[in-house]
Amino acid sequence: EAELYTLYKGVYVPSALHPPHSLKFYEDFTFRPDDILVVTYPKSGTTWTQEIIPLVVSGGDSASVETLPNWDRVPWLEENRACTLNLEERPSPRMFTTHFHHNMMPPSYFQVKPKVIYVMRNPRDVFTSAYHYFGITNFLVKPGTTSDFLRKFLDGEVIFGSWFDHVKSWLNAEQTERVLYISYEEMIEDLKGSVAKIAQFLEKPLSGEVVEKIADRCLFKNMKKNAMSNYSLVPPEFMDQTKSEFLRKGIAGDWKNLLTAEEAERFDQVYKEKMKDVKYKFAWD
Ligand code: PPS
Repeated sequence: EAELYTLYKGVYVPSALHPPHSLKFYEDFTFRPDDILVVTYPKSGTTWTQEIIPLVVSGGDSASVETLPNWDRVPWLEENRACTLNLEERPSPRMFTTHFHHNMMPPSYFQVKPKVIYVMRNPRDVFTSAYHYFGITNFLVKPGTTSDFLRKFLDGEVIFGSWFDHVKSWLNAEQTERVLYISYEEMIEDLKGSVAKIAQFLEKPLSGEVVEKIADRCLFKNMKKNAMSNYSLVPPEFMDQTKSEFLRKGIAGDWKNLLTAEEAERFDQVYKEKMKDVKYKFAWD
């Protein structure tokens, strides 16, 4: 564990992707006011949003989603790859991803306040997706049994720390008019409506026809066929997708197939306790 993970601002990050120089790069990063940031706790709909945003910004032009892998198209600012992409030279609006909690954001974020799209997902499904994902990657601590991993997840002993702290940190962000809160469940329920909502937030007027075209491209079954978005470019020694694919099921409620009644009960208890002061109405409650 000590080797695979680095403790950064109180949360674990995978050491393989976040050497000290790349965390420093992010600390020193200078935002532009028109940058667009996709912010998620892992397994909450990151890849999906990395497909939607470039299509919205380009008015439906699919060139970038067909030629650039998602990690170069909407790169994670805290990952080692970010330093190699000449991000200063990218034309506006630039699009980035981060898994950081609000309180972990670098100084420039608080000065410039770029727009944020914060995607949340039922933590039981986040847990389920993570359980499978941790099992196929060689740079994360193996999940162990479901109940081992449940304990770690509920205690925040996983990469990017506690789901509860992450969500609360972003819900309590100041200047929330610069943040669009959207959920995975909403996107499952009404993808066209979600694309339209994102376009409106980004002040990008789109015709109904273009919204429809974007939503169609971003359907799970279509993204699964896109080599630039389905993680098939990751070598099998880092991620063994013969066991479980990165784009695994793409549904809401799969936790019911993983958690026992007792584990679900435990989850509910912790959830209730940790979220008792949160007023936000979540799509899954
Ligand atoms: S990561 O590692 O943080 O970037 O993972 P992330 O992309 O946030 O989460 C992966 C889960 O999102 C699902 N996914 C989708 N669901 C529905 N529709 C589309 N288009 C889509 N794209 C990705 C993916 O399948 C993972 O969820 P699970 O439950 O494991 O299937």
